[in-house]
Amino acid sequence: LKRGLATSSVKNAIIKNVTVIGGGLMGSGIAQVAAQTGHNVTLVEVNSDVLKKAENNIATSLSRVAKKMYKDDESVAKKFAEEARARIKGSTEPAEAVKDSDLVIEAIVEKLEIKHKLFKSIDAVAPPNTIFASNTSSLSIGEIASATNRKERFGGLHFFNPVPVMKLLEVVRIPETSEETYQALMAWGKAIGKTCITCKDTPGFVVNRLLVPYIAEAIRMMERGDASPQDIDIAMKLGAGYPMGPIELADYVGHDTTLSIIEGWQKKFPDNPLFTPCESLRKLVQEGKLGRKTGAGYYNYNK
Ligand code: 3HC
Repeated sequence: LKRGLATSSVKNAIIKNVTVIGGGLMGSGIAQVAAQTGHNVTLVEVNSDVLKKAENNIATSLSRVAKKMYKDDESVAKKFAEEARARIKGSTEPAEAVKDSDLVIEAIVEKLEIKHKLFKSIDAVAPPNTIFASNTSSLSIGEIASATNRKERFGGLHFFNPVPVMKLLEVVRIPETSEETYQALMAWGKAIGKTCITCKDTPGFVVNRLLVPYIAEAIRMMERGDASPQDIDIAMKLGAGYPMGPIELADYVGHDTTLSIIEGWQKKFPDNPLFTPCESLRKLVQEGKLGRKTGAGYYNYNK
């Protein structure tokens, strides 16, 4: 999206002020794309150190995006990145950060109780017309929304890593989501340059319901010794046209995320063999080898 187009469409949009709660891989990316497309963003983290880390990651990614958008003009690229950065305000107080927000997107840890606590606290202080959304990968949007009194203004906005690059946004409706809320979420998705698909509040929505069992099968194949991780990755890249093979993708997504998705589903659907956690995944998480973000996973990145 060129900046002129983005800012003019934001002027007439329902959603102008966006609060992103959680500044991890996903939250930082969401804050970044919203700022890049002219929205005022408040990014909330637990303390100023974590906030600083998120802001640094955003600055690095923004300059990559700006360089790509304005290949021939370094000074315009720099200005674009700086203006986007300036639209992001940091905060460590969720209650304060939602006060004039049109849309709140939660991207915190995947624990229902913690999400409930957060949504309950902000539901009490956010303006009545503020829309709430969760970027959860695997929990039920309806169960998360049940902590609030605004189910008609609640939906799922599920992004993909790396958020600035991946073009898809899954917009999840729960039965209570009003048509107005749904339309506002779809329009916002378009305004931030994503292609939106609509789906029901079913486990994993569309992408993760297909992708996570596929990754788990690839890991099981590796555990059985049917093929090496390198060969499995080459096979799926060259034989099926995927940009990354399943093992390197698992390292990229983060093993904590994948394991928590599979374990959550296993609890709910104990009879589905597709949702059986893999031994090596558990072991890597125990060892803190969460994938690329920690420097090691199935592959080693600290070379
Ligand atoms: N910020 C900004 N730009 C980025 C970026 C980032 N974090 N990461 C990559 N890019 C840009 C690069 O600048 C580069 O731009 P260019 O083509 O103009 O030079 C472009 O993206 C490609 O990057 P690279 O050249 O570094 O590397 P690749 O060509 O290998 O692409 C990739 C990297 C885009 C990550 C690609 O490998 C890919 O699409 N992988 C699959 C990712 C995927 O499947 N994600 C979904 C995971 S599931 C999920 O997120 C759901 C969750 O709930 C679990």
